[in-house]
Amino acid sequence: MSNDYKSDEEILGKAYDARLMKRLLGYIKPYKKYVVFAILLNIVVAALGPVRPYLSKVAVDEYIAKSDYHGLMMVSVLIFAALLLQSVIQYFLTYYTQYLGQKTIYDLRMQLFSHTQKLALKFFDKTPIGRLVTRVTNDVESLNQLFSSGIVMVFSDVFTILWILGFMFFMDVKLSLVTLAVLPILIYGTFLFRKKVRGTYRDVRLHLARLNSYMQEHITGMNVVQIFRKEATEEKKYARINADHRDANIRSIFYYAIFFPSVELISSIAIAMIIWYGGGEVVQSSLTIGVLFAFLQYTEMFFRPIRDLSEKYNIMQTAMASSERIFKLLDSDTFIANPENPVKFERTNGEIEFKDVWFAYTEDEYVLKNISFKIKPGETVAIVGHTGAGKTSIINILTRFYDIQKGSILVDGIDIRRLDKRDLRKHISVVLQDVFLFSGDIKSNISMSNDEIPLDKLRQAASTVGADKFINVLPDKYDEVVKERGATLSVGQKQLISFARALAYDPQILILDEATSSVDTETELLIQTAIEKLLVGRTAIVIAHRLSTIQSADKIIVMHKGEIRETGNHQELLAKRGIYFKLYQLQYKDQELKRTP
Ligand SMILES: Nc1ncnc2c1ncn2[C@@H]1O[C@H](COP(=O)(O)OP(=O)(O)O)[C@@H](O)[C@H]1O
Ligand SMILES: [Mg+2]
Repeated sequence: MSNDYKSDEEILGKAYDARLMKRLLGYIKPYKKYVVFAILLNIVVAALGPVRPYLSKVAVDEYIAKSDYHGLMMVSVLIFAALLLQSVIQYFLTYYTQYLGQKTIYDLRMQLFSHTQKLALKFFDKTPIGRLVTRVTNDVESLNQLFSSGIVMVFSDVFTILWILGFMFFMDVKLSLVTLAVLPILIYGTFLFRKKVRGTYRDVRLHLARLNSYMQEHITGMNVVQIFRKEATEEKKYARINADHRDANIRSIFYYAIFFPSVELISSIAIAMIIWYGGGEVVQSSLTIGVLFAFLQYTEMFFRPIRDLSEKYNIMQTAMASSERIFKLLDSDTFIANPENPVKFERTNGEIEFKDVWFAYTEDEYVLKNISFKIKPGETVAIVGHTGAGKTSIINILTRFYDIQKGSILVDGIDIRRLDKRDLRKHISVVLQDVFLFSGDIKSNISMSNDEIPLDKLRQAASTVGADKFINVLPDKYDEVVKERGATLSVGQKQLISFARALAYDPQILILDEATSSVDTETELLIQTAIEKLLVGRTAIVIAHRLSTIQSADKIIVMHKGEIRETGNHQELLAKRGIYFKLYQLQYKDQELKRTP
């Protein structure tokens, strides 16, 4: 795990950060009218609660005390009406705030996904997948809480408190001051609580992140764990991380368990003081029983939003930390730049030239040095060399997955940096050793969900590469569902699908990167025939570690430690008795051994 990962999860959000808030509010903007509507409803609903104690004061003092039965009826109806109205408004409020939350979250997720799709591969080299997934799920979810309840409900709590204070002071200033005497203790207690919870909150997040990434890594590498029988060891490690997480949670529960009863206690003290002081006043007839009655209810009402506010504080804090991380992802600008005025590139004849190309994945660690070669239209060029020689890197820079540091790469004589990436890639198909299949069916995996390619053409592509033989015996043929990354298909079958995929797009330039290295001999023969058909009329770069595949190439480039060491055709290179000759001998012996059981 990189340090970066840790520090990211450790972001200890302030509960309010004006810069982040401003940006977050930008997401609500399209739904401004819902927000205004919700806030208006809030002001009303916040008043309806505090109206009831006041009405009950009127009932006691004006009607019960004077035995006015009719008046009492009237007030009772009013109280009931206020309750009813409050429930109705509450319904709209809940509906619209959640509606607002869901809408903004949808937008944010779309933005995250589309941004992530545009990032250069370099970004993914450095960022663990688990972390990206967390951004799009957990972090977005905590913003949902902020949008749907946080922002609007804070208004509700504040308004409720204001209305209560208004009614209390309106009825009796001195008794109000007595009631509020406990407020400093409450404020101090809340402050203390928040400080403590803040620290534990960060611990919980941190341990959760560790728990998740550990789990993810081990599910991905399950077969390795099982074959090396490391279950018990891994379980022990997991137990420790799990225990840390549990303890952090228990610490935070402890503070909550102290805080809530404390608020109850403080509100009881306030009630006792009202009864003691207010009761005395009633006895001296300087206060009516109705006011005392109303104050007792207000005190109950007053402490709930204060307690809720500290809950809201948590939502805010979580949301701020999440938004910080989300914005960090949205602000990552590891892109492969497109030129402002790209050269039009509708057709290509498939001429490729590398001119003094130098390339490094990371600063100054050149994996390709001074590479120059030219491929004429329709030619097949093979690249050979040991693992790590830089063969795949050549493909990576030709397709502009990465940009080069020095030199230039030309297609049809045009520097590829002057082309729109999409135009360039339109003409190139790549078949890799590891075939990636998406969930869906066989058909959509060949067409890559491009509905413009008719089924006929897909079938034809499949039959040209010889994939139709196994597809036709599947129960649902081309509609057969592809399970998780094609787990039910063999490596060779997946390889054939990927050949069909390349052919269906009918590219002018075809690249095969060790496409046959993990299949059995029979499938290789099948693929060998397929490749011969594929190469006709196209420019092709074939990387293969089985030399048999490349003997017929027009030109062979031999790479060694990032440099081109030899070029020529099969016969010429053998005659040189250099690296290629040695590679060939090794292979030949290998094949001899295979033949004699
Ligand atoms: N994404 C990457 N980030 C950093 N270094 C890389 C990356 N991919 C490959 N390399 C390094 O570049 C060198 C060439 O790799 P590669 O082109 O994949 O070799 P080959 O395909 O010939 O086996 C290797 O030393 C490898 O470690
Ligand atoms: Mg490679």
